[in-house]
Amino acid sequence: MNDAPLVIRAYRESDLPELRRITVESFGSVALEQMLEHKFGIWNGRDWKSRKADHIDDDVVACPEGCFVAEREGEILGYITVRIDHRNAKGRIPNLAVVEAARGLGLGRRLIQHALDFMKDAGMKLAQIETMASNAIGQHLYPSCGFEEVGRQVHYAMKL
Ligand SMILES: CC(C)(COP(=O)(O)OP(=O)(O)OC[C@H]1O[C@@H](n2cnc3c(N)ncnc32)[C@H](O)[C@@H]1OP(=O)(O)O)[C@@H](O)C(=O)NCCC(=O)NCCS
Repeated sequence: MNDAPLVIRAYRESDLPELRRITVESFGSVALEQMLEHKFGIWNGRDWKSRKADHIDDDVVACPEGCFVAEREGEILGYITVRIDHRNAKGRIPNLAVVEAARGLGLGRRLIQHALDFMKDAGMKLAQIETMASNAIGQHLYPSCGFEEVGRQVHYAMKL
């Protein structure tokens, strides 16, 4: 096991290609975008990996100061993104991933805690996160970090 310190630091623009790569690698079995592709195939010449990775581009544009990276000896092991709604004092975590080799060691939990601290410092009064019903880890991890289940959503799609 590597004893070098694991730091959570602010996102930098140069991280983006690696965050896109980790996203595609991590969300393989849990992304709605992949489910859409399974059901409808590829449309518009873009696969689920491109669309899912684009979500991270959107996060870092919408709220770069809410994006954090977990790093050990220069290697990115995970990240979390946050959106801030100042008008409603609501923070949301749209994306979170830890590389497979570093999972189950508490890093996801640390990233969530970091994001919650950031939201509190930004004056947010409520934090939101969502997960797919098929994502067993999310459904264990989020309540254990203090989130309470509020409602369930059903995703529909059709080809045009
Ligand atoms: C979700 C994710 C970020 C968690 O990262 P992590 O570093 O492994 O998280 P932690 O180690 O802090 O916690 C994982 C928890 O899930 C539990 N867990 C692991 N596999 C599980 C399973 N199949 N079912 C239920 N719980 C599970 C672990 O025991 C641990 O809980 P504990 O601390 O109470 O023992 C990581 O699994 C990941 O990147 N997944 C793919 C992308 C993803 O699903 N992102 C979130 C989308 S909503």
